[in-house]
Amino acid sequence: MSAKITILGASGSIGESTLDVVGRYPERFRVFALTGHSRIDVLTRQCQRHMPEYVVVGSQAAAVELKAIIDPGIKVLWGEQALVDAASDADVDIVMAAIVGAAGLLPTLAAARAGKRVLLANKEALVMAGRLFMDAVSVSGATLLPIDSEHNAVFQCLPPDYSGLDHKGVSRIILSASGGPFRTTPLASLAQVTPAQACAHPNWSMGQKISVDSATMMNKGLEVIEACWLFNIAPSKVDVVIHPQSIIHSLVSYVDGSILAQLGNPDMRIPIAHALAWPDRMASGVEPLDLVATARLDFESPDEQRFPCLALARQAATSAQDFPVALNAANEVAVAAFLAGRIGFTEIATTVARVLDDWQGSEPGDLLSVQQADKRARDMAMACLEVTAQC
Ligand SMILES: NC(=O)c1ccc[n+]([C@@H]2O[C@H](COP(=O)([O-])OP(=O)(O)OC[C@H]3O[C@@H](n4cnc5c(N)ncnc54)[C@H](OP(=O)(O)O)[C@@H]3O)[C@@H](O)[C@H]2O)c1
Repeated sequence: MSAKITILGASGSIGESTLDVVGRYPERFRVFALTGHSRIDVLTRQCQRHMPEYVVVGSQAAAVELKAIIDPGIKVLWGEQALVDAASDADVDIVMAAIVGAAGLLPTLAAARAGKRVLLANKEALVMAGRLFMDAVSVSGATLLPIDSEHNAVFQCLPPDYSGLDHKGVSRIILSASGGPFRTTPLASLAQVTPAQACAHPNWSMGQKISVDSATMMNKGLEVIEACWLFNIAPSKVDVVIHPQSIIHSLVSYVDGSILAQLGNPDMRIPIAHALAWPDRMASGVEPLDLVATARLDFESPDEQRFPCLALARQAATSAQDFPVALNAANEVAVAAFLAGRIGFTEIATTVARVLDDWQGSEPGDLLSVQQADKRARDMAMACLEVTAQC
């Protein structure tokens, strides 16, 4: 019997990599549903190749457009409820959660609540609703497997049956970071960098939002919060080290002085294949790492003056639970404004900092309070951007 898979965010970078791996094993995986938002051309090609039962898009207009092109046997749906249904359908075994941003929260949570094998790329779900999400996993018995290359690396380096810090001798988690495209750019030039420069990551090919987050290192900050939830560990026990080659994807430090690392070429098909096959292994289509050609691995500490977003994320991680919601929402608004050419690169961090400075934190007990906090932080970030535009 082949496993049926829903790919949330199929038209994106992770979605395309997932289909590349899944397509190598037609006897093992069957694509059940694909979801995208606006890229109809990509979804059309994917539908022709993988013939899902249904496909979900972001608007009625997009649904009409897609329906006119693809095989009439494929159902076309649109909107948030259709995403939730695709993630929780009783026929689905595996859900790849790869929608970008807060838009991924509801369907990803629905997959966890429905007890699926959840391949988690959408880190925002854990950043925004870590407690709710982890509770849903434990109540439903869902299998949660990290796709972020760093968390997948940590998962591979942890001992079996690990349950939290100090268990089985685990002492620290070390997340590696490339430092992005501006690791050595003079600080005085950062205000002038363009969206195209920010999206030109030196090692990874990714969607625009995560590329900008990598350039500010907000991505690493979000990953610190994600690691705390996934691995039941305090933020103070999660270190970040810059490793410009992106060959070591992360490390686990043990009380006896051992450090275990996972290495590989920077290609997301490796963690995707790992999570699809776990606890077995299967080929991902990625060439094995050539250690001699790699020759050297460098490490440095992140410079907080260059990467203020990392410090902001750490501040949010140690504050009340809705600070990460505010951090994430303000960052999404600021990154969108930067990509649209409305603000400069360095104003991403100043916008997030202003929202956090004014944030009155509380502990969101349910999904509605998470959504309300998200909306409030977005409104505050928009107001900051309007003030910036008037200056
Ligand atoms: N790319 C990587 O290497 C990587 C690595 C680790 C973790 N991640 C995480 O994986 C997630 C996806 O990243 P990505 O790089 O694949 O992003 P991406 O290339 O921008 O793709 C995002 C996907 O989400 C869909 N989408 C956008 N807005 C949506 C909305 N409002 N409702 C429903 N769907 C929406 C997009 O649809 P359309 O394109 O059709 O509009 C697309 O399918 C992010 O959370 C990111 O942090 C990515």
